[in-house]
Amino acid sequence: MVTTRDIRNRAEDDPVTMLTAYDAPTASVVDEAGIDVILVGDSMGNAVLGHDSTLPVTLEEVQSRTAAVARAADDALVVADMPFLSFGVDESDSVENAGRMLKEADADAVKIESGPHTVELTRRLTEVGIPVMAHLGLTPQHVNQLGGYQRQGTDPEAAERLLELATDHEEAGAFSLVLEHVPANLAAQVTEALDIPTIGIGAGPETDGQVLVITDVLGLDEWSPPFSKQYADLRGEMESAVEAYKREVENGEFPAEEHGHVEDAVDDVY
Ligand code: KIV
Repeated sequence: MVTTRDIRNRAEDDPVTMLTAYDAPTASVVDEAGIDVILVGDSMGNAVLGHDSTLPVTLEEVQSRTAAVARAADDALVVADMPFLSFGVDESDSVENAGRMLKEADADAVKIESGPHTVELTRRLTEVGIPVMAHLGLTPQHVNQLGGYQRQGTDPEAAERLLELATDHEEAGAFSLVLEHVPANLAAQVTEALDIPTIGIGAGPETDGQVLVITDVLGLDEWSPPFSKQYADLRGEMESAVEAYKREVENGEFPAEEHGHVEDAVDDVY
C-alpha cells in the first residue's frame, strides 16, 4: 500500500506516477499497473459528467466516485479532489467536508486547489490528520477569474508568488504539490526549492512526478490539452464496438444460440 509518507519521502530518482480515475473498473486497471497515486479529480466534471468546467461538480459526486475508486484500488494512494466551494469559505465546513472524504469515501488524502487562502487550511487539515496535496499554477476552479485556462507563472512577479506559495504550503504540512500548466523552468526551480515532491501536469520534465487525466491518456475525449499525451484510442474502439453491436442486432446475428437458454418445461404455456 502506498502511503502519503511514502510519497513525501520518495527518492528524487524514483518519479511519482499519478493518474485520475473516476470509477472502479478504471481504478482497478490503474492500480494493477502499479501507478502510485489515483486522483479522483474534479476533472470528472469535464471528463465524465458532461460539464464544460469543473465548477458544477459536487462534494457528493466526488465522494461517491472516490468510494468506488477506493473499493477497487488495493495498492495505490487514493486522493479525493475537493470541489469548488467545498473548502476555503468557512474553516470548520472545509475541515468537515475534507474529513468526509476520508471517513465516508475511504480516501487517503485530499487535494486542494491552493492559493493564499489555503495555507492556514492546509495547516489545520494536517493537524487533524487529513493529509493535503496542494495544487498551484493553473487552478481550473478559478477559470472565471483567470479568463481561461492559460499557462500561469509566466512573469517574474507571478513566478515569485507561486514559489512563495509553494514553500508556504510545504511549511503548512502539504505532503506533495501538483504544478499545473506552468513554465518548465519555473517548475524546475519550485522542485529544487521544496523537500516535498512536485507532481507536474504541463510543467515539463523536471518535477518529481507526473499526472495526467485518464480520459486524455486513453483517448476517450474528442479534445485534450496540448501538454497531454494520448496512449490509446478507446473512443475509436468504443465506436467500432457499438457499431458492430447495432449491426448484429439489426441483421439478427446477435443474440446467437449460445447467448440464450431454452427451458423445455415452459414450451407449452401459451
Ligand atoms: O482534477 C484533476 O484531474 C486535477 C489534475 C489535472 C491535477 O486537478
